[in-house]
Amino acid sequence: MPIIKWEENFSVGVKEIDDQHKRIIEILNRIYKMISDNQIENSAVEQILKDLHEYADTHFSTEEIYFREFDYDKADSHIEAHDDYRRRVEEFRVKNKAGLAKETLYELSDFMNGWWVWHINNTDKEYTECFHRHGLY
Ligand SMILES: [Fe+2]
Repeated sequence: MPIIKWEENFSVGVKEIDDQHKRIIEILNRIYKMISDNQIENSAVEQILKDLHEYADTHFSTEEIYFREFDYDKADSHIEAHDDYRRRVEEFRVKNKAGLAKETLYELSDFMNGWWVWHINNTDKEYTECFHRHGLY
C-alpha cells in the first residue's frame, strides 16, 4: 500500500468533510508506516482499528446528519456503504484479537486504501451537488 497524499482532486467541495477525510488519510498512513517499519504488534494494530472505527464514526455521523437535513435522495445506499465499513472494521478487530496482527494489518491496508479512495471519489462526490444546493461548502 503506497502512502496517500490528499490532493485537490479528493475534494468533495465541502471544507468540513475534506478536513475529516484528511484526518482519515493520516490514520491510513500510520498503517503504511507500521508496515514499512515492520513494527507490527497486536496492541498497535488494535489502536489503529480503534481510531479507524471512532474517527470514521464521527465522520459518517457528520455526513448522515446532512443527509437527513437535506433529504438527500441517495442516503439509504450511502448509509449502507458506511454500515458495511463498520462491519468490516469489526471483522478486522476479531481477527487481530485472535493474535493475527501481521495478517490483519496487511489485509487492512489493502482494504482501507481501496475503500476510502473509492468511497471519497465516487460515493461521497455524489452528494456535492445536493450539499451545495443547500448552501454547504
Ligand atoms: Fe461517506
